[in-house]
Amino acid sequence: MIVLGVETSCDETSVAILKDGREIISEVIYSQDSIHSEWGGVVPEIASRQHVRIIDAVFNEALMEAKIELKEIDLFAYTRGPGLIGSLLVGLTYTKALAYALSKPFVGVDHLHAHIESAFLENDLIEFPVLALVISGGHTSMFYMEEQLEFKLLGKTRDDAAGEVLDKIAKFLEIGYPGGPAIERLSKNGDPEKFRFSTPVIKNGGLDFSFSGLKTAAYLYIKKGLVRKDSKELPDFLASFQKGIIDHIISNIKKALNDYPAKSVVLSGGVARNEELRKKVSKEMKERGIKVFIPTPRHCTDNGSMIASLGYKLYLRGKRDGWDSDAYARFSSAFYSSETRKRHK
Ligand code: KG4
Ligand code: ZN
Repeated sequence: MIVLGVETSCDETSVAILKDGREIISEVIYSQDSIHSEWGGVVPEIASRQHVRIIDAVFNEALMEAKIELKEIDLFAYTRGPGLIGSLLVGLTYTKALAYALSKPFVGVDHLHAHIESAFLENDLIEFPVLALVISGGHTSMFYMEEQLEFKLLGKTRDDAAGEVLDKIAKFLEIGYPGGPAIERLSKNGDPEKFRFSTPVIKNGGLDFSFSGLKTAAYLYIKKGLVRKDSKELPDFLASFQKGIIDHIISNIKKALNDYPAKSVVLSGGVARNEELRKKVSKEMKERGIKVFIPTPRHCTDNGSMIASLGYKLYLRGKRDGWDSDAYARFSSAFYSSETRKRHK
């Protein structure tokens, strides 16, 4: 079965073609980073217009790379949400039109579940139960999976996402966009203990995250002129700030494991590209005998392969979208109940 996956939830336009939802025969990812860097963050209206401009070219390149014709595609999968509504609608409309014209089935997938799917796409051996995190520019969420395709949401950020605060502090310091990789690069030889960023404590927050306090603390250092782009303390400052974010993520993982014992931990989303985060989580989990699975950096970021892979699995479970299907911008609790899945059958 040839499955096409379309991802347009934020600022990457990606189309991938997978054989049997598993073997990637082509994958094209077009990033808008260079366009949004001027503003130091994603501008939603520009993002959706750029998707409109580029999606046809990305799609044709994916077909060419896979050396297949349009009529050979058996199933169309796309990101239904959450994400920027204008961007989502481009992928949804494009995919729906193709499926309609060819009278082929099409399936919408949840973007966060799809990020986690990237790890399953690359690894057959992930043992359940799994504690799975999506850490990106738009989301920081933690799920417990007792089995395949079962996503119990344990906690999510109450304010900013981890990647969002990295991007914002990089913007204030004018050190580049996206901020995560810029901060990682510039903090390489820094001392993470030099500046103090305490781990957020969320009262009655269960397993939720909160990153805005870390952002404000960093912003105040910058506003008071204690650190600047050209300060010699910059590497120490960035290393300490990055550590603050990583420590919060790890402390929440440990907290979750007390109530939700897991055999595996999955990290996904753009921030999971961070070497320090990957290393630290792997070390901490190794001490507990828990295996850690993190997609290759290319598949941590938004990609069409994760959409095709998850769409295929849902299709096998009987999920189909109707022609009236719509996108959702925000986290949809309906998508998380098994009731909804049954209704989709
Ligand atoms: O998953 P993603 O590509 O897009 C969504 O937000 O859905 O994630 C983008 C985020 C940005 O905030 C970016 O700064 C962050 O991932 N990021 C990183 C690294 N590479 C990308 N954060 C920390 N370290 C990195 N190496
Ligand atoms: Zn994403």
